[in-house]
Amino acid sequence: MAANPLLYLDACAATPPAAAVLEAMAAHQATAWANPSSLHPAGLAAAELLERSRLALAELLGWANAQVVFTSGGTEANNLALFGVCRALVPGRLLLGAIEHPAVAAAAAQLAREGWQLQTVPVNHQGLVDLEALEPLLAPPTRLISIGWANSEVGSVQPLQAIASLCRAAGVLLHSDAVQAVGQIPLHLGQTQVDLLSLSAHKFQGPRGIGALLLKPGLSLQPPSAGGGQEGGLRAGTEPVVLAAGLVAALALRQGQQPALAAAMAALRDRLRQRLGQIPGLQFTGPPQQRLPHHLSLLLQTPEGRPLAGRAAVRALARRGVAVSSGSACSSGRDGPSPSLLALGYGPEQARAGLRLSLGPWITEADLEPLPGLLESVIHELAAAGAP
Ligand SMILES: Cc1ncc(COP(=O)(O)O)c(C=O)c1O
Repeated sequence: MAANPLLYLDACAATPPAAAVLEAMAAHQATAWANPSSLHPAGLAAAELLERSRLALAELLGWANAQVVFTSGGTEANNLALFGVCRALVPGRLLLGAIEHPAVAAAAAQLAREGWQLQTVPVNHQGLVDLEALEPLLAPPTRLISIGWANSEVGSVQPLQAIASLCRAAGVLLHSDAVQAVGQIPLHLGQTQVDLLSLSAHKFQGPRGIGALLLKPGLSLQPPSAGGGQEGGLRAGTEPVVLAAGLVAALALRQGQQPALAAAMAALRDRLRQRLGQIPGLQFTGPPQQRLPHHLSLLLQTPEGRPLAGRAAVRALARRGVAVSSGSACSSGRDGPSPSLLALGYGPEQARAGLRLSLGPWITEADLEPLPGLLESVIHELAAAGAP
């Protein structure tokens, strides 16, 4: 990050777009700027790029016959999945993981007001879905379950294959919010059969403002928006052709770097974890193994074990040139304990002490060298100030 001295450790919130992606988009902008619904050659060029992007995205994820709906990002894809499926069905039970992103949890809460019976699937202390608790919950009247593939706050990666098998056996539709997983861990949707999957380009060095919902062909959804019938009738509005091509370019780049990139990130992360583990009082959260390779999460505490406010630590680290997050980006602007950490069984004070460090290919070992010292100085500063 030569142009920016910030030590950027907030990849789970957003990633800097890759140079090759921006170049590809600039080239497409010159040739495919027209409206893909237009029947003249300029429109046809845009339509061709859009359809090529759709096919390429499905193929990159190993789900060649998926229906692909481009959206503005992960939030809209999650909303489309939950509202689209549920409003096309007679209300029944809707299951969701106990640590879902607000884009899923708030949509589900709205569906509860529309007559759906909402039930959360418990997670263990590491943030992994309890499969034994899940199985009986899949009985009628459960119609849909939404489980995030990977959690942004504690880094847990769910056993999606096992969850998908249980759902198939029970005849329950499975949606997975894979916003934090796509581009970070290998996903092959021919093997792990979900019915709907959400993703967002800005988490894997693609452009902001574009995501997608992939769905099983033939699935009937009620479109939440009305308009010109674009995207198979599921998302009205002139399609963001160049952004869609940028999403695909970013994912192709990422997949081409895998599995070496994930291994390199995990190695970097593990060495950092080892160094941070020597800071007295600091406690890691989430699973040690089944976790995102670029993700480290912890509770900030004094050497005596008194929890310190994660948000205050984020500000103190920012003053030292380090960008991290105190939880999911969307909730980090709010006060109060993290609902995810509470769901993992932490107490309210500890649930305010969460900190997330998420790495990307722009980070080197040398960049991380000063971090433990900076974190220790932040702990002393906050402890001395009597925070929280
Ligand atoms: C798990 C998860 N789902 C959904 C979203 C929302 O995605 P977007 O910002 O593209 O709307 C995020 C963003 O942080 C996320 O982490």
